[in-house]
Amino acid sequence: MHKYETRTVSPAKSLQGEIVVPGDKSISHRAIMFASLAKGESRVRGLLRGEDCMSTLKAFQAMGVEVVEKSEDEFVIQGRGIDGLLEPENVVDCGNSGTTMRLMSGILAAQPFFSVLTGDQYLRKRPMGRVINPLSEMGAKILGRDGNSKAPLAIDGGGLKPIEYSSPVASAQVKSAVLLAGMQIEGTTTVYEPHLSRDHSERMLRYFGAEIESFDGGARVTGPVSLTGREVIVPGDISSAAFFLVAGLIVPGSELLLKNVGVNPTRSGIIDILQQMGGSIELLNRRELSGEPVADLLVKSSNLKGIEIGGELVQRAIDEFPVVSVAAAFASGVTTICDAKELRVKETDRIAAMCDALGKLGAKIEPLEDGMRITGGQSLRGGTVGSFGDHRIAMSMAIAALRAEAEVLIEDTGCTATSFPNFWELLAQIGA
Ligand code: S3P
Repeated sequence: MHKYETRTVSPAKSLQGEIVVPGDKSISHRAIMFASLAKGESRVRGLLRGEDCMSTLKAFQAMGVEVVEKSEDEFVIQGRGIDGLLEPENVVDCGNSGTTMRLMSGILAAQPFFSVLTGDQYLRKRPMGRVINPLSEMGAKILGRDGNSKAPLAIDGGGLKPIEYSSPVASAQVKSAVLLAGMQIEGTTTVYEPHLSRDHSERMLRYFGAEIESFDGGARVTGPVSLTGREVIVPGDISSAAFFLVAGLIVPGSELLLKNVGVNPTRSGIIDILQQMGGSIELLNRRELSGEPVADLLVKSSNLKGIEIGGELVQRAIDEFPVVSVAAAFASGVTTICDAKELRVKETDRIAAMCDALGKLGAKIEPLEDGMRITGGQSLRGGTVGSFGDHRIAMSMAIAALRAEAEVLIEDTGCTATSFPNFWELLAQIGA
């Protein structure tokens, strides 16, 4: 559980400098999981020390995986192989992390032991039927609260058979849970999804030596796979960089260089959205790290205009809509976000949360069933807003505050440690 604190953010004059955002959260989770399931040693550099990833790390330590911290962001993990995990002696606490709970469900469903997964007050409200259903179809014995739809989850692992699964939601967590179960058993498991969700699992499993086929509309694995320990370098998190991209665009006279950011096409929708809004963002020094594309991002303040956002672009920027709504509040004209119903079941209902918080500062923002409509160009006043315990709401409101007319007090900001422990330090570093 994150600690309770509040922060006051003042209007900024201009933002300048070069920053390195912390490691990608999605990729860090997977590095810990796959290194633990691999045979031999893996060295992971650039790992995010956020609370979510530490939940994943502790879960694997509880199943006998040895981890040595070499430095602040470098970990050496002694993998136990896919058949070497031990039954955890206690309930596994996934904290606030949906990725930990959903991916672990897939891994544990195939392990020959009993385990229980729980989480904080927010995670225990989130839908788990989306992983319980396909895993049960594979033969998993999983019981959950509220008619088998919510955590805590009790998993009596083993006895699975492969399936072909068409997921009703485009979700990397669902796709990964099914593939991670499928990769441990004999036969071919296939997942189809309505839009391509982030493909970090497929990329990293391949990097660890598994054969995973990605195709238009899904992915397929034939198990059991064998993973071999490797050196992994985790790129910077584009979802964390997004706050600084928007800050650089909306605060006049700013220029920021964000170094070493992951630009996987399944994640880089935020760059397309902000460029379509008229934002000046350049991708420099493109390269590849451990199977993931990376670049440095140069952002300069720009006059933004409102746009319409829907369809597959939503999937490619799914975690960035809180901060997109901030950019829209400072753009001329109307921005409409639709096809984004998933925002209602993130760490909080992000549609309701952003309408409440930005609305309190005087933004014209209205909720839609599957998104929101923002009429930009109004100046925002100072005031007090809440974070709803959601890291991305807290950080988005800090960015909005940089361009408000007066100070903004943000309540319950300890949650930023979930994904971005040094967010406030980096903000100060660029002159905020
Ligand atoms: C994630 C997948 C996305 C995303 C979440 C991280 C992952 O969720 O919103 O922050 O690491 O696989 P869904 O799978 O629910 O779309």
